[in-house]
Amino acid sequence: MSHRFHHLLAIEPLNREQITFLLDQAKPFQEFQRYPLKKLATLRGKTIALAFFENSTRTRISFATAASRLGADTMSLQAESSSLKKGESLIDTVRTLEAMKPDAIVIRHSSSGAAEFISRRVDVPVINAGDGTHEHPTQGLLDALTIRDRRGKLDGCKITIIGDILHSRVARSNIHLLSKFGAQITLCGPAMWLPRELECLAPNIRRVPRLEEALDGAEVVMALRIQQERLHEPSLAADEYILRYQLTPARLRLAHPDAIVLHPGPMIRGLEIDPAVADSLQSCVLEQVTNGLAVRMALLFELVAGSTDPQDHAKDSAHASH
Ligand code: NCD
Repeated sequence: MSHRFHHLLAIEPLNREQITFLLDQAKPFQEFQRYPLKKLATLRGKTIALAFFENSTRTRISFATAASRLGADTMSLQAESSSLKKGESLIDTVRTLEAMKPDAIVIRHSSSGAAEFISRRVDVPVINAGDGTHEHPTQGLLDALTIRDRRGKLDGCKITIIGDILHSRVARSNIHLLSKFGAQITLCGPAMWLPRELECLAPNIRRVPRLEEALDGAEVVMALRIQQERLHEPSLAADEYILRYQLTPARLRLAHPDAIVLHPGPMIRGLEIDPAVADSLQSCVLEQVTNGLAVRMALLFELVAGSTDPQDHAKDSAHASH
């Protein structure tokens, strides 16, 4: 195979061909989610360790489901129950997991760089499921898959990302990914979350503080989750955020008429997004969730199974279920 991956730690170091390869690999798995019997034997006998040092429900469930649909078993470590609480170091915890001989480790951690740190110290493939404010590469891939399906292509899309860009690993992975495909990226949010340095992440990035202006002509509108703890007086009250940055139907009308709306979840209706937008035909929120399974299955397949063609496995299963 021409695009061998050993880990997936970030989008930034990947090139267009590698990204396109991963998105293409996800295609048969998108189809697979519609099958009545959703179980392959591809990774039977393999074990995926889910090391979630930071709370997460949806990303953990998505990886666990992806692994199980490929026939793999999972072993799970969750923030609350983790021995980290008892003072064990990250590396000792991960080495303990590794000693149970998993075939890949999926890690989420609140420190930027944690996934890479671990990847240098273990022998199995490592997948970054979100590290601090750095990256969330599988989210970047599932967003790209959703955009490519709806627009027909990834190249040159006009995207507006709204919210706490500064702290968002989702925004970073999307910026790196889409900019490799010539995107025009507009970042919008309160000044404290929109520092000038963000323009250095990639070419063709502009910061536009006023949402009405930022939405003008956008083909993809991404509202980020707002952490309520970060919204307080005197810097910015929730009311003011809603007033200036909430994605409402009236504001969405300023974007391209066929614009699509993305949100990584968990979505706080009434804060960053108006329920009427969240439930509109333009919203791709649930498609994103299904595409997340396809992307994660493709990735686990690529990192753990090796060289067989996923299309064959999807076909096998189609036959098995008819
Ligand atoms: C994102 C995350 O945790 O980085 N959510 C997710 O993976 N579904 C987005 C967020 O929580 O802001």
